[in-house]
Amino acid sequence: MTDRIASSPDYHHAATPEQGVAEAEALFAGVFGGRPDGVWSAPGRVNVIGEHVDYNGGLCLPIALPHRAYVAVRVRSDRRIRLVSPQTRDAVDELDLDAIGPKGSAGEVHGWAAYPAGVAWALEQAGLGRLPGFDAALWSCVPLGSGLSSSAALECSMAVALDDLAGLSLAGTAEQPDERGRGVLVDACRRAENDVAGANTGGLDQSASLRCRTGHALELDCRDMSTAQIPFDLPADGLELLVINTRAPHQLVDGQYAERRATCEEAARLLGVGLLVEVADRDLEETLAILPADVMRRRVRHVVTEIRRTRDFVAILREGALEGGRLDRAAALLDASHDSLRDDYQVTVPELDVAVGTARELGAHGARMTGGGFGGSAIALVDRSESTRIAAGIAAAFADRGFNAPQFIPTVPGGPAGRDA
Ligand code: GLA
Repeated sequence: MTDRIASSPDYHHAATPEQGVAEAEALFAGVFGGRPDGVWSAPGRVNVIGEHVDYNGGLCLPIALPHRAYVAVRVRSDRRIRLVSPQTRDAVDELDLDAIGPKGSAGEVHGWAAYPAGVAWALEQAGLGRLPGFDAALWSCVPLGSGLSSSAALECSMAVALDDLAGLSLAGTAEQPDERGRGVLVDACRRAENDVAGANTGGLDQSASLRCRTGHALELDCRDMSTAQIPFDLPADGLELLVINTRAPHQLVDGQYAERRATCEEAARLLGVGLLVEVADRDLEETLAILPADVMRRRVRHVVTEIRRTRDFVAILREGALEGGRLDRAAALLDASHDSLRDDYQVTVPELDVAVGTARELGAHGARMTGGGFGGSAIALVDRSESTRIAAGIAAAFADRGFNAPQFIPTVPGGPAGRDA
């Protein structure tokens, strides 16, 4: 067996804004020549609690990561779009704003370009006027495919860039955000993902990237996408949120996500409601008794209990500092969330369960998977002084089982999408 102490954890630190801007500008200059009109960025996210409830009208509680996608953009005089990332610098994606369309249509956009190009399409579809063409170089330090919303970060950086360059004036600034206008940008980014990229996700990720604030968790009510800022000053309480990117290979992600969503919609129909949130305050056993199949009952039980857990977690944060009994109650909710996602919603994989189980054994104040699941990342609420020891223990547990080496992100809540240069 591997010596647990000997395993040194691998950290994935965020680029500073200066580094992010320099990388995007250098890529832009190398591929398109000259300087961009500006550089904008948007963060990835972790959801503290409230998983697989956004598309059921529930409550989520994300924070923004310090890891961001940076986009350097220059307006063109025609309607062409040219897009490049470090991975595609030898094969620039070229599109025409008049020819972009939803997935499955003649205008379908293939590959990663669907996210940024989809945002331009969705802004026009929303009746916000005709956009100019543009050249854009995208550079991101949000780990890809890790459940930390690297695609939403791309979309939202593009959205704030186009908002500025086309004079839409929807976003306000990162310091003084225009909440209503950002809601419009969230809708456009979500349409880009749903309609153009073809992933039927629920709006949590885009809301987090555009609407989170430094030092706060975002209480997001997905019935109407209204938000409240909840102070979440972990360092003040001697705490840290340790993000564990399991680097587990994703399997069947799209199909499984869509299947969960379809089951929830069918259950809502059978229960005579538009969204499952509408049964969250009913007697759970009576609700489940109406449903015909065990799998459907489990899915609904997760959604209803997760909505209740998220409400309780927010109430704890509103009471005051995370310490003593409050910290214990918060930890129990995080743990119960994971167990429900594992047993009832069935979206975890062995890597997520081992990360969470090991974090708990080593003294975390609660741990759970975060994001869509089927791979991706987990979070553990830990004493700052214990973070390195717990990360080393998880790395050793992964090595023992022959899993990919995980990557760790010690994080505090960062700021929303905005202009950097
Ligand atoms: C993914 C989706 C979100 C949300 C989460 C689960 O991240 O993009 O909309 O459904 O899964 O909470």
